[in-house]
Amino acid sequence: MCGIVGYVGPDSNQRALDVIVEGLSRLEYRGYDSAGVALVADGEIAWRKKAGKLANLRSDIEAHPMPPSTTGIGHTRWATHGGPTDQNAHPHLGGEDDKVALIHNGIVENFHVLKTELLAEGVTFRSETDTEVAAQLLARAYGETGDLTEAMRVVCNRLEGAFTLLAVHADLPGTVVAARRNSPLVIGLGDGENFLGSDVAAFIGHTKSAMEVDQDQIVTITKDSVDVVGFDGTPAEGKRFEVTWDAAQAEKGGHSSFMVKEILEQPAAINDTLLGRTNEAGELVLDEMRIDPARLAAIDEIVIVACGTAFYSGLTAKYAIEHWTRIPCAVELAHEFRYCDPVVDERTLVVSISQSGETMDTLMAVKHARELGALTISICNTHGATIPRESDAALYTHAGPEIAVASTKAFTAQIAACYVLGLYLAQLRGGSQAEAAQQVMRELHEVPAKVDTLLGSMDRVREIARFMADTRSVLFLGRHVGYPIALEGALKLKEIAYIHAEGFAAGELKHGPIALIEPGQPVFIVVPSPSTPHNLHDKVVSNIQEIRARGARTLVIAEEGDESVVPFADEVIRVPATSPLLAPLLTIVPLQVFAAELAAAKGLDVDQPRNLAKSVTVE
Ligand code: AGP
Repeated sequence: MCGIVGYVGPDSNQRALDVIVEGLSRLEYRGYDSAGVALVADGEIAWRKKAGKLANLRSDIEAHPMPPSTTGIGHTRWATHGGPTDQNAHPHLGGEDDKVALIHNGIVENFHVLKTELLAEGVTFRSETDTEVAAQLLARAYGETGDLTEAMRVVCNRLEGAFTLLAVHADLPGTVVAARRNSPLVIGLGDGENFLGSDVAAFIGHTKSAMEVDQDQIVTITKDSVDVVGFDGTPAEGKRFEVTWDAAQAEKGGHSSFMVKEILEQPAAINDTLLGRTNEAGELVLDEMRIDPARLAAIDEIVIVACGTAFYSGLTAKYAIEHWTRIPCAVELAHEFRYCDPVVDERTLVVSISQSGETMDTLMAVKHARELGALTISICNTHGATIPRESDAALYTHAGPEIAVASTKAFTAQIAACYVLGLYLAQLRGGSQAEAAQQVMRELHEVPAKVDTLLGSMDRVREIARFMADTRSVLFLGRHVGYPIALEGALKLKEIAYIHAEGFAAGELKHGPIALIEPGQPVFIVVPSPSTPHNLHDKVVSNIQEIRARGARTLVIAEEGDESVVPFADEVIRVPATSPLLAPLLTIVPLQVFAAELAAAKGLDVDQPRNLAKSVTVE
């Protein structure tokens, strides 16, 4: 949940503070309860830390300048143990002489036992965090070993839980030591300087050359070396990769928020996710997955595991996957999956969906599925993240960096990736759906242009949102693929506009939720295309009439040319026509725009909503 930066640069260029604060500004989306930095300077640790957003830390540093330095660490926090106060902010210092500074992402689960032990030995603590225990243990281990890497190894072998740790020692200018277990860490390789970060955004302004760090490994960086060892002391090699996006993509680029920018980037995100998935004959090719096609063809069940918006993308894709493959597809919340004694085996394909690739609940679900013998595929937007690396194969979405906490372009890219996977499975299984797969792929390629057109017609949606800034409750209805879109529309509004919002399957209305309808209650209805089988469209139109008769204010999302909704709609929001299974890539757009505009109209921070963090790396 937290953002972590480490840096070592050349003696000629004592700019550690600037590099670290810049990195933190790019990682702030990961957590923004407090922020802090520690520098090694003149045989001491210089540190500043402040509750609140990074701006508070910047002001503090301006008021109390820090010394020039080549070496340092920085942290932006999402509080777990101990509230978001100055004291609980990272870094935490260790040792009687405060010569060790340490930052942490994750949770040290056995911190209580360790703290009791340290307290008994006379150590005093200045915070309520689990992290300070690791700082004190590290100072002690350094005292015994005289080697920061070895000391980190000793400490890691005592910690339980999930952690990325970064540490510096006052006597070691030019060295940062890091460790990871079940929490993200990546190395940035510069020319005469090296970096550490929770993700590549930490150093993208300086280098695109990066290296993955495996589970249970310790990394020691200097300005011109990177050494990796396992927690057992075995030397290891990191895997290099090039970052495929640049710093400009992680900037707002003149937009009012990252969320607004990312909504507008959806045509490119979907398009790039579809690119290169077919050969000249129009057949789907997913060579990058490196899974034996025979094994894939033999699966008899699909289980999608994910959380939040990624879960809704899975729920959306389920309809298409089952239709195209005729394989049963269950969609499970990742945090429930492990605990429901799931029935999966080697013929089950478990597909995890995660933008960050670091969501702890999803990671644990994948690990559990592998233990049970399932084949695992990760749909992920972040190269080198933990979940794809812990899976049998990865299918990357190419949405580019998603910075706003509220997921938008990752959502549509995830749906597109699920469609590609579903069509590929259909092709492997042969039969009539295999032939249809090529036609669907052609249609999918037309969707980005339609999303683009749709984005150009959102003025009225923005107006409605501004008009509704004081609204206290909004309901969302949908059916078939419109149902998960209703759920996702409600989630967007909850998380960034702090408005009570609920999504329902329209058919469920009469089984209870219709009691919520009173005069003036705004209700968005995602209407299926009139071409949806089983007269579903007409059934939803009836649902609109039922709630309108009870006074609801109906905001209807309907396909171009669908005139049957007009008499029952207070507002009609048009989306371009497409085949019913692909429609979610369009119908979600007005709901994203609505939430972003309404949150902005309320004067809220659209990108960094309260209590949330982009990447949920604790269970
Ligand atoms: C979406 O707007 C949320 N911020 C959240 O639900 C998110 O989708 C969820 O936490 C999963 O994240 P992931 O895709 O990185 O795994």
